[in-house]
Order: sequence, then C-alpha cells, then structure tokens
Amino acid sequence: MTALAIETHSLSKQFGRKKKSVLAVNKLSLQVEANQVYGFLGPNGAGKTTTIRILLDLVRPTSGEARLFGQPTLRAHEVLRRVGALVEGATFYPYLSGRKNLEVLARTGGYYDKERIDRLIHQVGMEDRAERRAGGYSTGMKQRLGIAAALLSDPDLIILDEPTNGLDPAGIQEMRTFIRSLVKEQGKTVFLSSHMLGEVEQVCDRVAIINKGSIVREGKVADLLSEHARLRIDASPIDVASEVLSRNWRVMRSDGVLLAEAAREDAPAMIRKLVEQDVQVFEVSAHRQSLESFFLSVTQEESDGQSVSG
Ligand SMILES: Nc1ncnc2c1ncn2[C@@H]1O[C@H](COP(=O)(O)OP(=O)(O)OP(=O)(O)O)[C@@H](O)[C@H]1O
Ligand SMILES: [Mg+2]
Repeated sequence: MTALAIETHSLSKQFGRKKKSVLAVNKLSLQVEANQVYGFLGPNGAGKTTTIRILLDLVRPTSGEARLFGQPTLRAHEVLRRVGALVEGATFYPYLSGRKNLEVLARTGGYYDKERIDRLIHQVGMEDRAERRAGGYSTGMKQRLGIAAALLSDPDLIILDEPTNGLDPAGIQEMRTFIRSLVKEQGKTVFLSSHMLGEVEQVCDRVAIINKGSIVREGKVADLLSEHARLRIDASPIDVASEVLSRNWRVMRSDGVLLAEAAREDAPAMIRKLVEQDVQVFEVSAHRQSLESFFLSVTQEESDGQSVSG
C-alpha cells in the first residue's frame, strides 16, 4: 500500500496559556491520498492555516502527529523537499522583479532551471508582468508569484493556503484549470485551503470541512452534495401537492414552489402520486445545493447544535 500524501493523527494546537488560550486545532485526524485535489474548507479562524503550518513544520503541535508521505514532519526535513507550499502572506524581495525573485529562490534551494521558471511564469499567467518589481504587484499578482514559487522545486505535494485570494473571476478560473492540470497531467497532489466554497467545489475531488479546529464533514464533493439532495416541484394547487407529498417526504414551501428532501430517483413516484390526486405538475427539477450552502448548514449545525435547512 502506498503511503498517504498527508495524514494527521489527533493533531491539536493550543496557542497561549490558561484563560487566554486558543485551541486552534482540536484533535484533527486527516487522510489525504496522493494524486488528487483535496480541499480543506472552513470559515475564518477555523484552524486551516495553523494546520498547514504544522504540516510544514513551521509550528509545533501541542499534541498529536502529522506525516507527509509516511514520514513524521517534525524534524523530517528530507520529506519537506518533496513539498511546495504557499502559506498566508508569502513575502518577496520588493525591489527585485517577479522573475528575479523566482530565480533567487530557485538558486537558494538548489533547483535553478531557467526553462522551468519561464514555464511557471506562463502557467500562472504573469508573463507580461514578470519583469516588474514585486513590490508594486497587486494582491492577485503576488498570489500568482507565490504559486509559481511553490512549484519551483517540482514538488510531489503542493500545499496552498487560500490560493485564489485576491484573484479576479478570470484569474480564479485560470488557477482552477492549472491546479487540475497539475494532478491530471503531472500526477501531483494538491492540498488547498479555502473559505470560498463555490470555487473549490469545481476543483476538488474530496474535501474536509473544518470548524473550530475539528473536522465536521469529510468526503467526495459529489457525495457531500447528494447527502442534502432536494427536488423542486412546481405544481398546482400547491396546498394539495404539499399535503400529498408530505405523506412520504419532508416538504417545505419556498417562493411558490415546493422543495422536497428527495433524490432524483424519487421523481417518478412523486409525479405519479400527484397526478393520482389531480394535481397539475408543471415541473420537477433537481434543486442543486451548492457546497456553499452545504457548508453554511454544517458549520452552523456545529455552532448552534441545531440543523439549518434551506
Ligand atoms: N500565533 C498565534 N497566536 C495566537 N493565536 C493564534 C495564532 N495563530 C492563529 N491563532 C488563532 O488560532 C485560530 C485559528 O487560526 P487560523 O489562522 O489557523 O485560522 P484559518 O482557518 O486559517 O482562518 P482564516 O480563514 O481567517 O485564514 C484563530 O482563533 C486564531 O486567532
Ligand atoms: Mg488562514
């Protein structure tokens, strides 16, 4: 069996002591198989950056353990050679150009390769600004440079903390395509964090949703979404339709239509029951829930101790 790209075992990190302490990561256990895009999602302050910093041995965990490719990260700098990372607020030499910054980093790391640098500059979409000084870059340009920097050593595992921060919609789309190509064409593993779920939904194979330092859900994106499947039913009279359907499904009203907690496979039976009761059915469609609303519902469940539907 091949080693997991990332695994953590009951990882915890407490900052500060006693009353003022913050439990940033709370018994977090994670398994990330190689050759996929894995999303690490959570609201602000959930513990994403802290977890990533532990993975990179920039922060010591209070308890528990993290491993990369089967090696404990703690003091195992050999394994960190196979990892490229972009963590919150990458810094560059402001008076050097973007290209020069990449060259310096590559030379320092001992993996200078001019062609590779040219290719990366092109791939992150910054060829027209590579010769300008990095100090004048916009947030989005700094982010692109940071991603190029993370890839300089041709790492097997790429860890990106909020990679689309500061990118415009077109930039997000380009980055998404680029990240997918790293996995598909180059067999890399990408672990990325985000609090912006709409975009991650389309790039990740699996996701872990974290809140207050712990994982609240984990799985394939498609499975998580179908967990909360709903059908949207436009029928008349709506009162009769609601009464008929609520015998078998949980139904709620929303903007003059019905939403039933049911999967696509339930549609024929649903339509049959409605027609039997002389209800006119105009439309039955899948009410696609975005990861965004799924995420809101699971993170709120955790905070309120109650389920939020909608
Ligand atoms: N060096 C530190 N000292 C004290 N507290 C810290 C430190 N770093 C993080 N924290 C706290 O730990 C918690 C988790 O922070 P973290 O930065 O890991 O969250 P995050 O999920 O990355 O959030 P964001 O989406 O805002 O980037 C927060 O409450 C934060 O204030
Ligand atoms: Mg963060």
